[in-house]
Amino acid sequence: MLSQMTLEEKIGQMNQYNGFWEVTGPPPSSGDDATKYENLKKGLVGSMLNVHGVENVRKVQELVVNQSRLGIPLIIGFDVVHGYRTMSPIPLAEAASWDLEAIEHSARIAAEEASASGVAWTFAPMVDISRDARWGRVMEGGGEDPYLGAKIAAARVKGFQGDDLSAENTIAACAKHFAAYGFAEGGRDYNTVDISHATLYNHVFPPFQAAVDAGVSTIMNSFNELNGTPATASSFLQRDILKGLWGFEGFVVSDWASIEEIVDHRNATSRREAASIAIKAGSDMDMASSTYLNNLKNLVESGEVPERLIDDAVCRILQVKHDLGLLEDPFRYLDEDREKNIVGCEAHQEAVLDMAQKSVVLLKNEQELLPLPKEGKTIALIGPLADDKNSPLGNWRGRAIDSSAVSVLEGLNAYPGNHVLYAKGCEYLLEEGDYIAHPVINIDDRSGFGKAVDAAEKADVVVMVLGEGANQSGEARSRSSLGLLGVQQELLEAVYQVNPNIVLVLMSGRPMAITWADENIPAILEAWLLGSQSGHAIAQVLHGDYNPSGKLPMTFPRTVGQVPLFYNHKISARPWDPEADNVYLGGYVDGSVYPLYPFGHGLSYTHFEYDNLQVEKTGDQEFSVSIQLGNTGNYDGEEVVQLYICDRVASETRPVKELKGFKKVKLRKGEECSIQFKLGEKELGYYLNSGQFIVEPGTFDLWVGTSSMEGLHTQFEIK
Ligand code: BGC
Repeated sequence: MLSQMTLEEKIGQMNQYNGFWEVTGPPPSSGDDATKYENLKKGLVGSMLNVHGVENVRKVQELVVNQSRLGIPLIIGFDVVHGYRTMSPIPLAEAASWDLEAIEHSARIAAEEASASGVAWTFAPMVDISRDARWGRVMEGGGEDPYLGAKIAAARVKGFQGDDLSAENTIAACAKHFAAYGFAEGGRDYNTVDISHATLYNHVFPPFQAAVDAGVSTIMNSFNELNGTPATASSFLQRDILKGLWGFEGFVVSDWASIEEIVDHRNATSRREAASIAIKAGSDMDMASSTYLNNLKNLVESGEVPERLIDDAVCRILQVKHDLGLLEDPFRYLDEDREKNIVGCEAHQEAVLDMAQKSVVLLKNEQELLPLPKEGKTIALIGPLADDKNSPLGNWRGRAIDSSAVSVLEGLNAYPGNHVLYAKGCEYLLEEGDYIAHPVINIDDRSGFGKAVDAAEKADVVVMVLGEGANQSGEARSRSSLGLLGVQQELLEAVYQVNPNIVLVLMSGRPMAITWADENIPAILEAWLLGSQSGHAIAQVLHGDYNPSGKLPMTFPRTVGQVPLFYNHKISARPWDPEADNVYLGGYVDGSVYPLYPFGHGLSYTHFEYDNLQVEKTGDQEFSVSIQLGNTGNYDGEEVVQLYICDRVASETRPVKELKGFKKVKLRKGEECSIQFKLGEKELGYYLNSGQFIVEPGTFDLWVGTSSMEGLHTQFEIK
């Protein structure tokens, strides 16, 4: 194919436009859009994003296939992040399930719906490790840990792509944002990243490498600079690591206008220079900035950019189109009947309900306040998010219908044995203007407090639904505080005065610093933003029809000042020691160094007992670990058994703990089982700053338990 293409046509394949006109309306007749429209017909566009729906996709595809000289179809991309029409929980919530099968299935459903709507390619999974709850985009990812993150990355890629990319119900995935976007300074989006290579290799790369190993078709580069080079301009990242070391054969798409932004980073003087830098660095497709289209031809003709770089990029793009079956049949995904039957179908609601239940994390449950009885109780349901049908859909909600989620009020009303008194109390902040640039307007209206307090006074138990709305996390939604916004904290305290029997249901797209609540409120449930079936999932967990099994994929801090706070930190020579009679240690004079809830934390209504931890050497650098787990409580339940290690002394310092295995097991009450893990080179070794992977002899600590802070401990030696 390549040999039939002119240089211009080749560069066209590397050009991606955003959906720029009402496709089913008249074509644009003047201005930029008219030029873009002509470019579609000339074969100067390889891809479009944000065009969806069979009718629309058919229109643009027909234009390109029927009118351009070679008729090479477009690859249509869209951000299908946690669902297309039927919403699964936000990805951070799904990560809390630690349930790889369920996560894969959730991506499968998203792919079913997106493909039925003509979309061939999703810009997901987002696999950026982040330790910073201030960063709004933590909601899109798998949390702070590279081991868990890598497993989830692979599961999501498999879910989207299935076994056969050319099947009508699978779509190409895109692992993003390569690389280190989650390490932005101050947790501010798009900000500078300056981290060691050891952190890059040991923490940032593993989920990307796992995605590549799982056969991901595309990778998106990132907006940030990394150690002095914009990621889009980095041949270290894109050529040396991704396409070189890992042998990635798909293509790299830029992030939105990130090629042009090499100029804004002041790493290039002109867009022409930016194009030259980006193609040499290995960015294959230009999202939205037309920098390639406008400059590459001239750069090749003047000899500044070798044509073989263009050929390589185009081959990669054509290969993915081929794998999707688009070259064979450009209209492959376009079937109106399928779209009607699949998008938003009933069966998908059931599946996202299952995922939503699995994503809930029980943070605290004193005096067994939960589960709630199903009959005879008066429940006061209070809070700005209690009857919100929109927020649970989360950010990056694809083509979800606004306000289509089941609210908590609706969920509780499905248990008619209890009497529910609902009062909103206050706003969570932002009624309007969710999409404006600086959406921090504190709403301080307390007029609803009275009704809320009245309801609480009459109730046996209070369920308060507080937290963040859908657009308080996500891209460009960073925060400089991590408490409850607006007057929600005041509402919580006012209700507490009259009835402390409170279950706090926290909705959020990130870990939140709810320290007062932890000290005073007996039961707390992290419900994230759970998607279409949110209210049913929450009500079923509250009533014990689902026994919570989620575990935090990110540390919850006590105060924003502790951030970045993560479990797999280094030890330092003077770690904080609360017992020590010495001030010259790495603590805070005004607060704790410890998390509010650690990574891996999550309670169940039942109790799990760990016993008999054994390590056996099975090879040179291979060990088998076993443990006995019993369900000694009163409910059937699921536990995520977590294995952590620490390489005690190493050539380059190692984290105090690192997750190296986990298993989610279901046990009936009274049941016991034995669980095995294997540790090999991959788990025992680490990357030096030089990028070299080594396994070093010496003593290792090993813990197996219920969170990163608890567990049975032993040691083993590598000789
Ligand atoms: C985001 C990407 C997204 C792209 C297209 C960018 O602003 O960073 O994650 O895929 O927009 O919507």
